Amino acid sequence: MTLELLFATNNLNKVREAEFVLNKFGISLKTITVSKIEIQSNSLREIAIYAARSAYRAVRRPIIVEDSGLFIDALNGFPGPYSSYVYKTIGLNGILKLLDGVLNRKARFEAVVALAVNENDIYVFEGYVEGYISSEIKGSSGFGFDPIFIPIGCSETFGEMDIAKKTSYSHRGRAFRELGIWLTNNRDKVLIQDKAL
Ligand code: IMP
Repeated sequence: MTLELLFATNNLNKVREAEFVLNKFGISLKTITVSKIEIQSNSLREIAIYAARSAYRAVRRPIIVEDSGLFIDALNGFPGPYSSYVYKTIGLNGILKLLDGVLNRKARFEAVVALAVNENDIYVFEGYVEGYISSEIKGSSGFGFDPIFIPIGCSETFGEMDIAKKTSYSHRGRAFRELGIWLTNNRDKVLIQDKAL
């Protein structure tokens, strides 16, 4: 039987990628847009845990949230937790400009998925991928910084990959695979909590 989990997010690209991974584990997602409270913090983990608890309080059912970001070495980890704001403001060209002439183009994407089974039991699944910021914008698939991020060992940006290839390397793919494995062994934890309500 397919397990349906709630996913609190406004980002449909995240949902597509998460579902692509979780469907293989017999899990489907139902997206809801709750006004989750995002604290300001330098830790994605802290942000995700806080958001999962506040999303749970809004629906009183097991729910997941995901927080992610791009961390650029030469910029001391910027934009990190501020990736969404930086994407909307200076965008891809702004990042390329900041790295103009910079030889160290190392970067990493991180994703933290937090599953709130109830207010106190919050499980965290993390994934990351190391790579480089390209010298130009390439590809139109995916979202956000995909067209300027090349995972290590690849010659294409995420923006040039289809969803299967991107999720096989990506931070999100890894974090949601961890969640899928955990749920394979702990399905009851989510079902029992859901039934009790
Ligand atoms: P948040 O998790 O909603 O705070 O947003 C994270 C931001 O990081 C997104 O809006 C994107 O700009 C960026 N980001 C996170 N994951 C990805 C990805 O897989 N590809 C491209 N950009 C990403």
